[in-house]
Amino acid sequence: MSQYYQKDLFKDKVILVTGGRSGIGYAIAMQFLRLGAKLMICSRKEQALEIARQELADYGPCHSFPCDIRNTDQIAALGNEIQQSFGRLDILVNNAGGQFPAPAELISEKGWAAVINNNLNGTFYMSQAMAKQFFIPQESGNIINIIANVHRGFPGMAHTGAARAGVDNLTKSLAQEWAQYGIRVNAIAPGTIESSGLYQYPEAIQQRFEEAKRENLLGRFGTTEDIANAVSFFASPLSSYISGTTLYVDGCEHLAGDRNGLIKTLRSMMQS
Ligand SMILES: NC(=O)c1ccc[n+]([C@@H]2O[C@H](COP(=O)([O-])OP(=O)(O)OC[C@H]3O[C@@H](n4cnc5c(N)ncnc54)[C@H](OP(=O)(O)O)[C@@H]3O)[C@@H](O)[C@H]2O)c1
Repeated sequence: MSQYYQKDLFKDKVILVTGGRSGIGYAIAMQFLRLGAKLMICSRKEQALEIARQELADYGPCHSFPCDIRNTDQIAALGNEIQQSFGRLDILVNNAGGQFPAPAELISEKGWAAVINNNLNGTFYMSQAMAKQFFIPQESGNIINIIANVHRGFPGMAHTGAARAGVDNLTKSLAQEWAQYGIRVNAIAPGTIESSGLYQYPEAIQQRFEEAKRENLLGRFGTTEDIANAVSFFASPLSSYISGTTLYVDGCEHLAGDRNGLIKTLRSMMQS
């Protein structure tokens, strides 16, 4: 699909994709490289990150730096590495994140805090650091937050629903506060996307995903490329008058389909 965009769309643009070693982040990174960008990817697992960097380097200049988005010291070190390697940053894609399925009454304090810290706080820490070091002084920048389908809540993963709804709102606040610095901020809410993240769930939940696929009005799961295409749109001048918005890339999943399928599956798993 990247062939539909002009080949040098992101020529000389420096782009950071968090969680770029796998799944959706990997596809985003690959598309940017194919369209001429210089990439930095970060994540926690050093070895897996280095393997991804080597693979992605076939498509263009790709650097990597181990960084936990929950750790502001590590984010500062990542910012210094970007400064040394590229001297600037043009686009930040906050894609890193993760969660686990659980009925709300069984989420421990630690589990709740972990998911909020990763998916809400990490996104804020990263956005603030990159804006202060690069985007505000440059008077230009572009932030794209990958969230989730939280339109009708997220039964079965209440913690991530709350965190992603937080990022949805943060997107609107930052877009307004930082417009004066030439920074655009948008979010993408993926539906169920066939990616590495999806296969980490237990078998019964994967079966539920298959039902959701049949329920989807477009009759399929999303692909990582569907998300990369939307990210490229927000990253490009094609969307230069769009800021503070969330785009659902989900085949209508936020409007239609059984939003309670996951929690029903979890409850039946607990009874069996
Ligand atoms: N797949 C879907 O259907 C779907 C739907 C809606 C939203 N999403 C969201 O989209 C994003 C990508 O999903 P995916 O399916 O590609 O999942 P994935 O393969 O599990 O990717 C998550 C990535 O984030 C990194 N990461 C997680 N926590 C991190 C942290 N604290 N610091 C730095 N990196 C971290 C992971 O690398 P390390 O383990 O090396 O840190 C991994 O590369 C996630 O935020 C996910 O929740 C996915």
